[in-house]
Amino acid sequence: MPFDTGRPEMTAEEFRLLRDFVYAYCGILVRDDMKYVMERRLWPRLEALGLTDFSTYYRYLRFDAQRRSELETAVEALTTHETYFFREPRQLKAFSEEVLPVLERRNARTRRLRIWSAGCSSGEEAYTVAMLLLESGRFEGWDLEVYGTDISRRVLSVARLGEYGPSALRSTSPDKLARYFVHVGPNRVRVRDDIRAMVSFGHHNLRDVDTVPLTSRVDAVFCRNVLIYFDAPARQRVLRLLYDKLVPGGYLMLGHSENLINLSADFELVHLRGDLVYRRPELGGGGGT
Ligand SMILES: C[S@@+](CC[C@H](N)C(=O)[O-])C[C@H]1O[C@@H](n2cnc3c(N)ncnc32)[C@H](O)[C@@H]1O
Repeated sequence: MPFDTGRPEMTAEEFRLLRDFVYAYCGILVRDDMKYVMERRLWPRLEALGLTDFSTYYRYLRFDAQRRSELETAVEALTTHETYFFREPRQLKAFSEEVLPVLERRNARTRRLRIWSAGCSSGEEAYTVAMLLLESGRFEGWDLEVYGTDISRRVLSVARLGEYGPSALRSTSPDKLARYFVHVGPNRVRVRDDIRAMVSFGHHNLRDVDTVPLTSRVDAVFCRNVLIYFDAPARQRVLRLLYDKLVPGGYLMLGHSENLINLSADFELVHLRGDLVYRRPELGGGGGT
């Protein structure tokens, strides 16, 4: 006899309805073998709302007056926000040593640089980029902006606060820790104010092409470890958005396990000495649909 937890089980039909609904909203595909994971992560929502089964929860998400905020909470529960400072150092080194000099030359006249961290989670990636810009010593007196966007309002509020503990700093060397952070408590640091001033955060669902909170096109996009949660059509949609928001010749940095094979022919692959990155071709190249 199965152990009775007192919690409702999710039927196959409920799983299908909820999965498709979440997919349509944010592009995240909950795989068929993840019914149990979905059930476990959404139980607390049923409890919080006093609902007894997942069909009622589905109807709540579709029709209740609070449906939008509950949908955000559900997606929150289903997404992974894993991130940390100086993640994927090889790529960051290539970015600093080989991409930034190109951007410095290209924008020498405007002395302006815009970088987007799309799917920034709690902000570590966006702040890391700001630290790399500063560390390069190339952009003194320039107009620099790093934007971080995410679908989760919860992680964005952590990002705006800019305070972190040991897990976020697992890949941060002691000298960087001393240079870019101030201690605010035992095992707790805050990103230096001048670096925080370079970075701004905004809410954005990457599936939503019309509401990107960017005032102008960007010179580089970091969209790392985000596409892995989407299926192919959702990835293609996001890639088209990123293409549109990049200046011609702008760079796209993906996570180390991600590539554009069979997804997009719009970007060109650039072989740097230290890594492979993608780039929107200069005018005339690529489809850019
Ligand atoms: C694993 S984290 C990656 C964080 C960071 N880019 C990194 O590589 O360290 C993935 C982030 O993507 C966000 N995300 C998932 N779906 C999204 C969507 N449709 N629009 C915007 N952000 C999304 C999640 O909320 C999560 O914070």
